[in-house]
Amino acid sequence: PRSIIIDTDPGQDDAVAILLALASSELKVEAITTVAGNVPVAQTTKNACALLELAGRADIPVFPGAARPLHRPPVSAEHVHGQSGMEGANLPAPKLRAQAMDAATHLVDVLRARAAGDITLVCLGPLTNIATALTHAPDIAPRIRHIVAMGGAQREGGNITPTAEFNFYVDPHAAQIVMEAGVPLTLLPLDVTHRAIATPSRLAGLRDLKTPVSEMVLRMIGAEDRFEKLKYGWEGGALHDPLTVGWLLWPELFHGVACNVEIEVDAPLCMGQSVVDLWKVTDRTPNALWINDVEPDVFYSLLTERLARLA
Ligand code: BDR
Ligand code: CA
Repeated sequence: PRSIIIDTDPGQDDAVAILLALASSELKVEAITTVAGNVPVAQTTKNACALLELAGRADIPVFPGAARPLHRPPVSAEHVHGQSGMEGANLPAPKLRAQAMDAATHLVDVLRARAAGDITLVCLGPLTNIATALTHAPDIAPRIRHIVAMGGAQREGGNITPTAEFNFYVDPHAAQIVMEAGVPLTLLPLDVTHRAIATPSRLAGLRDLKTPVSEMVLRMIGAEDRFEKLKYGWEGGALHDPLTVGWLLWPELFHGVACNVEIEVDAPLCMGQSVVDLWKVTDRTPNALWINDVEPDVFYSLLTERLARLA
């Protein structure tokens, strides 16, 4: 199996991404590192521990990460994910405790200890931990096999400002450090995640499962009062983060373009915007695979089949 470390701010959709990875024998989840994002880091850490316990995987270590972005004040998303960060999950308080070592230190240690090209980073929140590790230890960059990150938006516009997607907006400086790191990089922006919203028909298979995991996922992403349904009038909620894991498992379902992506860190109106050179109008070197389409129905049926394994 492919070794991954999941860097995350659970987060309702983060939770589903983590469960999808745990359910997939092609992937070995070596660790979870947490970050402040949807809710403060103490809570995202607790949520990661609770999810591992639910999945019977308390053997996977959790390393608590950055409490705030590199240079900007924290921004959170309780308006989407609730005070707990996993509204609707209603998981019991975990017994599992996070490690004493912090996320960035662990990332540096593990990337130096393991063979070069062993570890893939799956990034589901603001990129503060990854940027911190890369800044303190630039020697780890060539040792990372791949970074797969949910973040950015071009065609769709932003979901936290008119121009910026949440993860890149919260820590634009960190995102730019990752863009520049020279690590093979795949981005799953809103341009693709908004094509895979959780409509009732896509959730029908999950509704039939009736397992503790499926019921929990449905309480989070299938809820009647889901943010995107109320605010945008969509047929279902968004399910961003699981597409990162989906791309690792089933890349043939996705379409993307290799191009240059840079993150705006200065202009107030465009803070955190992903500037995507889709049409190669600059001579900047392509640094990312910018995913902009997916076969959503196939994705949901494969996701359902995987979550059924966590019965
Ligand atoms: C991203 O922001 C968070 O709220 C979600 O978990 C996802 O990672 C979408 O913009
Ligand atoms: Ca997230």
